[in-house]
Amino acid sequence: MTETLIQVQDLKKYFEQNINNQHVQTKAVDGISFNVKKGEIFGLLGPNGAGKTTTIKLLLGLLEPNEGSINIFGMNPQREDVKIKEHIGYVAEEPLIFRSLTTKDLFNFISSIRKLNPSKTQKMLREYLESFEAIQYYEQILDTLSHGNKQKMQIIASIIHNPKILILDEPLAGLDAKSVKVFKEILDMHIENGGAVLFSTHIMKIAEELCDRIGIISKGKMVGIGTIDELRKQSNKLGASLEDVFLRLTDQDISVMEIIKKLRESFNNK
Ligand SMILES: Nc1ncnc2c1ncn2[C@@H]1O[C@H](COP(=O)(O)OP(=O)(O)OP(=O)(O)O)[C@@H](O)[C@H]1O
Ligand SMILES: [Mg+2]
Repeated sequence: MTETLIQVQDLKKYFEQNINNQHVQTKAVDGISFNVKKGEIFGLLGPNGAGKTTTIKLLLGLLEPNEGSINIFGMNPQREDVKIKEHIGYVAEEPLIFRSLTTKDLFNFISSIRKLNPSKTQKMLREYLESFEAIQYYEQILDTLSHGNKQKMQIIASIIHNPKILILDEPLAGLDAKSVKVFKEILDMHIENGGAVLFSTHIMKIAEELCDRIGIISKGKMVGIGTIDELRKQSNKLGASLEDVFLRLTDQDISVMEIIKKLRESFNNK
């Protein structure tokens, strides 16, 4: 039987806020369950504000759930976050890299806190930087890099310790076409080595190409889960594109048409 590396059961996360003296509760994650197995690339899709980043932060132990359970590699991220981090590579939605450091300093720092073998790490770092055509930024301050080049450094920082599980929040944001190809290759190698990947994306084509299974989140709930064919069945849209399946499952197919019609009318009457 294939080993399950990530197990999420009935996960809930509610945010409480005070807006204009009114108590507002947002059910960011409202009872989500899914598994990711060894050798699998699992994609999380969902409209803006659906709860993808919150789910990912819960998996990493960066947020405390209100309810539900998470099991990663047999551990609970809330209780064993330090041990779990050895096994996880994480790309955050907002770059978490230290802006005033150079690329070289960043990787020396990562290497020392993760207690990595310096010469092996240096060799892999060079390979990754060359593959991403970013070797020229080795001595450059991270803050002076372009958005896409910063993203490449985040990706390399997430894989340099050779983790079993990659958890990536919109990792392709800002990457050019060639870098996307390199990134796909890196994910393939990771899977061939017995790893697992969970990543969120808004790019349907990427999800279609890369993911073995996809979970579609809408308003904090999992509204569809499975292979693309299984999602087609769940949405009663046999033969449809992932985009159409996604819009159906997230209840947006009719509203998109209505929004466009209304916008066109206002535009023509202005
Ligand atoms: N710290 C917070 N305090 C209050 N509400 C929050 C907080 N973080 C997230 N939320 C709310 O939780 C919901 C889910 O947000 P989340 O960032 O998980 O969405 P997402 O699916 O990642 O969206 P996107 O595609 O835009 O990245 C949203 O309504 C968001 O406004
Ligand atoms: Mg997000």
